[in-house]
Amino acid sequence: MKKGLISIGVLAGFILSLLMVSGAFAKDVVTYDVPYGKVTFTHKKHVDNYKIDCLKCHHTWKKGETTGKLCKECHKAQAEGKTLSAKDAYHKDCKGCHDEAKKANKPAGPAGCTQCHVKAKK
Ligand code: HEC
Ligand code: HEC
Ligand code: HEC
Ligand code: HEC
Repeated sequence: MKKGLISIGVLAGFILSLLMVSGAFAKDVVTYDVPYGKVTFTHKKHVDNYKIDCLKCHHTWKKGETTGKLCKECHKAQAEGKTLSAKDAYHKDCKGCHDEAKKANKPAGPAGCTQCHVKAKK
């Protein structure tokens, strides 16, 4: 009985360390339910499967940082000075990367408006 409890503890610790290594402590999926159509962003897949560096998107982090401000804390509804509006910032990053990959004939995410923004079925 005692032995069983200990192995559960070891197993839980092991799983926790795996989660931390794979970045699962961050959000797995982020959704933007906006009027133009809902966007689903597979955060975890972009890191684990498509191998994109955290700093590519979280561009204000220093190397090694793994938490910090959300995009919209800086990128507001309207552009402010050099800081793009939220819409432009997301489009430049998300659509920008997909567009470039497509041009280079590499596997890319959706670049068409209604491929990325999915309207709810009426
Ligand atoms: C392809 C772009 C992209 C990559 C790569 C990326 N992220 Fe994110 N991350 C986002 C977006 C977009 C959000 C949603 C937050 C928002 O819209 O403001 C987010 C959210 C987060 C959040 C949640 C913030 C909160 O307070 O709720 C954490 C933590 C995070 N990312 C950590 C990471 C880490 C660590 C890595 C690298 C292992 C990483 N991200 C890689 C784009 C990315
Ligand atoms: C702490 C504030 C801050 C946060 C958080 C932030 N940004 Fe920015 N971002 C800026 C500022 C300021 C600029 C303009 C100056 C620059 O390029 O650094 C900018 C520029 C950009 C640009 C244009 C870069 C270029 O090449 O022209 C993109 C795209 C962008 N941000 C996307 C994002 C995304 C996506 C997130 C969230 C994952 C994010 N930003 C989080 C402040 C921020
Ligand atoms: C630096 C490049 C890059 C950035 C930035 C990026 N993506 Fe992607 N995205 C990819 C790649 C690569 C794929 C997968 C191609 C494949 O293997 O099918 C992908 C796939 C996708 C897919 C379809 C597959 C899936 O995982 O759901 C969606 C939807 C998507 N991206 C949305 C977004 C959104 C929304 C953002 C911005 C918050 C974003 N992407 C930012 C490179 C990027
Ligand atoms: C790769 C995914 C992607 C593609 C492709 C894309 N968008 Fe977006 N779009 C987003 C994200 C992410 C946001 C930010 C949502 C937010 O601010 O919460 C956004 C925001 C918007 C907004 C502001 C929110 C709203 O509903 O009023 C509009 C309008 C919009 N997009 C229209 C378009 C149009 C038109 C196209 C084609 C030219 C397009 N998008 C292509 C991901 C995408």
